Amino acid sequence: MSKYIIRATGVHKHYRMGSADLHVLKGVGMAVKPGEFVAITGASGSGKSTLLHILGALDRPDKGSVEFQETDITKYSWARLNKYRNSQVGFVFQFYHLLPELTVEENIMLPAMISSSMLGWIKNRKTIKARAKDLADQLGLKERLAHKPHQLSGGERQRVAIGRALMKSPPLLLADEPTGNLDSATGNGILEVLETLNRAGQTIIMVTHDLRIADRAHRVIRLADGLIGSGQ
Ligand SMILES: Nc1ncnc2c1ncn2[C@@H]1O[C@H](COP(=O)(O)OP(=O)(O)OP(=O)(O)O)[C@@H](O)[C@H]1O
Ligand SMILES: [Mg+2]
Repeated sequence: MSKYIIRATGVHKHYRMGSADLHVLKGVGMAVKPGEFVAITGASGSGKSTLLHILGALDRPDKGSVEFQETDITKYSWARLNKYRNSQVGFVFQFYHLLPELTVEENIMLPAMISSSMLGWIKNRKTIKARAKDLADQLGLKERLAHKPHQLSGGERQRVAIGRALMKSPPLLLADEPTGNLDSATGNGILEVLETLNRAGQTIIMVTHDLRIADRAHRVIRLADGLIGSGQ
């Protein structure tokens, strides 16, 4: 197994807004080992989401490399990046991004449904459904499989989003302010879910601006002035 699951080196990201040039990431370097639970923290606008998106290939850096299991994904074609995004990483966002017309079970199954051909879906339907049910069970959603997102609490919606992110068993889970829209007790429940997943071996990188939440991770990486603080 590679020493690092993911490693960013000298990552730069600019946003050009008309004539203004916003230099958000100025040579960020960070590395995460398999099985770690790492928090990325920093002030609002410091580039936390930008960095997470680059790690998950939702965005590309302007300069620098991102190695996933020792292969530089910034050199990938869009097709290969799509494959990387669909199989190696799971995303959890602050506002859940569930599909309102689908049930809990369907939302969780979605990544597997999208990546299956019609024939593959017919062939693997039972396994896919069993995986979704198993995840729902683990996430305390057993009695909610037929609910639609509007019939769920915020914490339940976020658990569905975690289930969806894990549907294809990605080695890396990326979470951007997963508790940001929840009250502290419910947010605590989501952190407990993440901790349980991590204890079972899931590698997690979580962005949060809340230092108390960041402290629950094994390691905290601080972003400031476009760089990671020294000694991290
Ligand atoms: N698509 C974009 N176009 C232009 N500027 C952008 C874009 N995305 C982000 N920015 C700018 O880049 C900076 C970093 O944004 P980012 O969303 O990464 O911050 P953040 O640390 O996640 O903040 P928050 O804690 O508020 O979510 C911000 O100043 C933002 O305005
Ligand atoms: Mg953000």
